[in-house]
Amino acid sequence: MKFLGIDVGTGGSRAVVIDENGIVLATATVVHEDFASPEIGWAEQNPDDWWRACVLAIREVLQTVKSEEIVALGFSGQMHGSVFLDKADKVIRPALLWCDQRTEKQCSEISAKIGAEKLITLVSNPAVTGFTLPKMLWLRENEPQNFERVKSILLPKDYIRLKLSGDKASDVADSSGTLIFDVSRRKWSGEMLSAFGINENLLPKVYESIEITGRVSSKAADETGLKAGTLLVAGAGDNAAGAIGMGITEKGKTSATIGTSGVIFAVTDAPKLDLKGRIHTMCHAIPNRWHNTGVTLAAGLSFKWFRENFGDGKSYDELVGEAEKVSSGSDGALWLPYLMGERTPHLDPHARAAFVGLTASHTKSHLTRAVLEGVAFSLRDSLEIFKESGAEISSVRLGGGGAKSKLWRQIQADVYNKPVEIIEADEGAAFGAAILAGVGADAWKTVDEACEETIRVIETIEPNLEVVEKLNRNYEAYQMLYTALRPAVRILKNQENFT
Ligand code: XUL
Repeated sequence: MKFLGIDVGTGGSRAVVIDENGIVLATATVVHEDFASPEIGWAEQNPDDWWRACVLAIREVLQTVKSEEIVALGFSGQMHGSVFLDKADKVIRPALLWCDQRTEKQCSEISAKIGAEKLITLVSNPAVTGFTLPKMLWLRENEPQNFERVKSILLPKDYIRLKLSGDKASDVADSSGTLIFDVSRRKWSGEMLSAFGINENLLPKVYESIEITGRVSSKAADETGLKAGTLLVAGAGDNAAGAIGMGITEKGKTSATIGTSGVIFAVTDAPKLDLKGRIHTMCHAIPNRWHNTGVTLAAGLSFKWFRENFGDGKSYDELVGEAEKVSSGSDGALWLPYLMGERTPHLDPHARAAFVGLTASHTKSHLTRAVLEGVAFSLRDSLEIFKESGAEISSVRLGGGGAKSKLWRQIQADVYNKPVEIIEADEGAAFGAAILAGVGADAWKTVDEACEETIRVIETIEPNLEVVEKLNRNYEAYQMLYTALRPAVRILKNQENFT
């Protein structure tokens, strides 16, 4: 039996086929062509471009694996995005993405109407600009002619499911990021829907992540090369699916993934709310389990931005090679990674990035190292909040780009002061989606069993205690800087006028 996982990311869509031993048989990634930021802080993509990329990625893996061998397909995708569909299921306007920051006004209104703490008791999360409800309210207020035409609202990966099967369905983990989902009870929140006049008919039916939602239609089979009738399993948002792909299944297990954004993810066996709203509480892709996440919006993006603007055409490896020659702590240079505002712990779309502590002796290599360390400091902010709430963290499993670089792995071990683990098949969320497909198709009884059989730790990196001490001091300074710079950043913001 073979299982296909599809991950509808931001930069591209990815298809991964695995077998019952978790061996990766084929992978394909197709880059998205569409990404627009029509105004500062806005982020939009055309859902039909995701579909184009998914079709190509599926066709590519089917050159290696026969479609008849694939028994089930599972989904993962960028969370929170809003796909607005009309009565013919046509996309009305580009989707607003997870990193879109335009909805500050709507977030304040939501918090004011419900009460900030009450909101967290209802939906386990604060009003965050990237979440889905504020996007719906923005559309209603700013594009009423478009809002009137909306007959369905889907999350990004669920649009791909619709194209594959004609079914409108979602899962508990991805729906947790909409702000209209009762995370504790794992169902849409009637109270939130009626408070904001959103009709439940606009929303898809919600399943547990391992449940079957439908089958590939013959039309989609023609387009993709998949076999008509192949099972479709609910899947999960990319954080939960990514965690499954790393074996983060039960209480006490923690991961740090650095992709475009960076995520610290810890499993709990009951919803664990942070009434201050600094971290997220969501359903895990396993029935009766939940998770906490802290999100750094510009994690891998910090390094990408740095390389594109100041990297002199060098590759990531070359830049890391130069950063390796600088000592830990970057001789006092610090990077605050708030290029996109920040979620955890500041929840501030107006936060701004900064290099701090520079002298004439610092070089570009120092700045590179400072970027890698700054991203890790930002993720440590989330770990500190988890620890405050009593979470026991014995080790941290690494994923994404941050797990691929030897230097970034060691920096993370030293900044978190925890052993960090590297797994064999770091295929991320698409791998997790494929595992969920396998559990849905009864290849394994439970997600725990599937992960035990497919996920193998191949390396553990211990923190270097001398370096830990040094980086603790930098972290102490790092923690002071957001608040210290805030008033200055507010003034500078008025000068932003990008063309
Ligand atoms: C999670 C979040 C991001 C996106 C990235 O809350 O916004 O991790 O899911 O794809």
